[in-house]
Amino acid sequence: MRVLVTAGPTREFMDPVRFISNRSSGKMGYAVAVAARDRGHEVVLVSGPVALTPPAGIRLIKVVSAAEMLDAVSVQLESCDALVMAAAVADWRPVEMSVQKVKKLAAGSELRLEPTPDILLTINPRKGKRVFVGFAAETTGMETEARRKLSAKGLDMIVANDVSQPDAGFDVDTNRVVFITADASAFTLPLMSKREVADRIVKWVENACPLSSVPAPGVSVQDTAPEGGARLAQQWNFIREIDKLKLVLRRTLLLDGSRYENDAEHSWHLAVMAVLLREHANEPSLDIVRVIKMVLVHDIVEIDAGDTYCYDEKGNLGKVQREKVAADRLFGLLPGDQQQELMSLWEEFEDRSTPEAKFAAALDRVQPLMHNHGTGGVVWKAHGVRCGKVMERNRHVEEGSRILWEFAETMIRDAVKRGYLDE
Ligand code: PMT
Repeated sequence: MRVLVTAGPTREFMDPVRFISNRSSGKMGYAVAVAARDRGHEVVLVSGPVALTPPAGIRLIKVVSAAEMLDAVSVQLESCDALVMAAAVADWRPVEMSVQKVKKLAAGSELRLEPTPDILLTINPRKGKRVFVGFAAETTGMETEARRKLSAKGLDMIVANDVSQPDAGFDVDTNRVVFITADASAFTLPLMSKREVADRIVKWVENACPLSSVPAPGVSVQDTAPEGGARLAQQWNFIREIDKLKLVLRRTLLLDGSRYENDAEHSWHLAVMAVLLREHANEPSLDIVRVIKMVLVHDIVEIDAGDTYCYDEKGNLGKVQREKVAADRLFGLLPGDQQQELMSLWEEFEDRSTPEAKFAAALDRVQPLMHNHGTGGVVWKAHGVRCGKVMERNRHVEEGSRILWEFAETMIRDAVKRGYLDE
């Protein structure tokens, strides 16, 4: 499913420094977004101003006012199967917004207010088969008021929370809610973390949504075990996504010179090299499985960040930041434990401080040397790369394998001798 979630408060400004808002922290809405992501769904999160860290693997659209939230929801709705409106949209806004800070109001002066657009009401005519879930934040007569909103706003379910309780509603990490559905049934949940409430909401939406049996596009997995099904959907989604690695071209020609190699081919080549050349690693007790995993994972971030030619000094400037953002998004598609495993393998490779990472990095350098040597240094020449740079760039091969470095040095000197590489 593609799930649209709103979170946080809106702010309705009366002048550049003053606004009407509420105490929403965004925790409830962000928990729903993360729960939906973790269950294998694609998530778009429209958020008012909050102090929370943007969750990885979720498209975040930041808004400030109710009008902006309405715009964002209207645009995103088209491609979504479900909407969960956890945002605490301010109900009123000043009729006028002053461009300059308003001088201290004199006693008795009035601030004229008008209602903000009701987002759920406005988009209701476009609901179609989509599942709509709203929230009702109440302090008195919770169920009655929630039922009224459920029907007035044309929702499939409303999550009512009594926000007068110290451990529920605004800002706290827990919530105590009642699910009230369009068929008028009510289901009271005990006090639980907002994340647990969020999981229950997402599972309810999955059951209510006609598309929920298709966990990810193109998947024909039967969701017989709900937890396992969602996990497989996330894994499958990632497996589909990394197909794009085959589209990322490197600046190395295949040995027959016919075309550029792509990142997936490069990673596969390194994995085979790791199996075969393990005996040449400096560290005899090295964990070769971790090396293989590392080389298979090390370039996945280039799906988003692109391949930066190692001798391109300008292009390498923003590379670390670019790749970090890409790693967050791509590994964020996986279930939590695998997200962590792949992220730490990638970070270990980048750090190059463990014996496994040093050996993986050595392979990563020796392989393109082989290609450059084998294709007569065409790419080196095209980029004006000289012997000194190649030596400097590849010297760290020695940290992972002294034997491979000797071999690499011989290859580089031979390239100079043959005129493939300028001195
Ligand atoms: O963000 P937290 O600190 O974690 O707090 C969570 C929460 C208390 C904000 C959340 O659990 C909650 O109750 N959110 C809805 C708050 C609210 O605005 O309730 P309401 O009863 O005023 O609105 C009913 C529904 O209409 C809500 O889904 C709301 O998003 C929607 N609405 C409201 C006003 C408006 N102009 N347009 C709307 O679509």
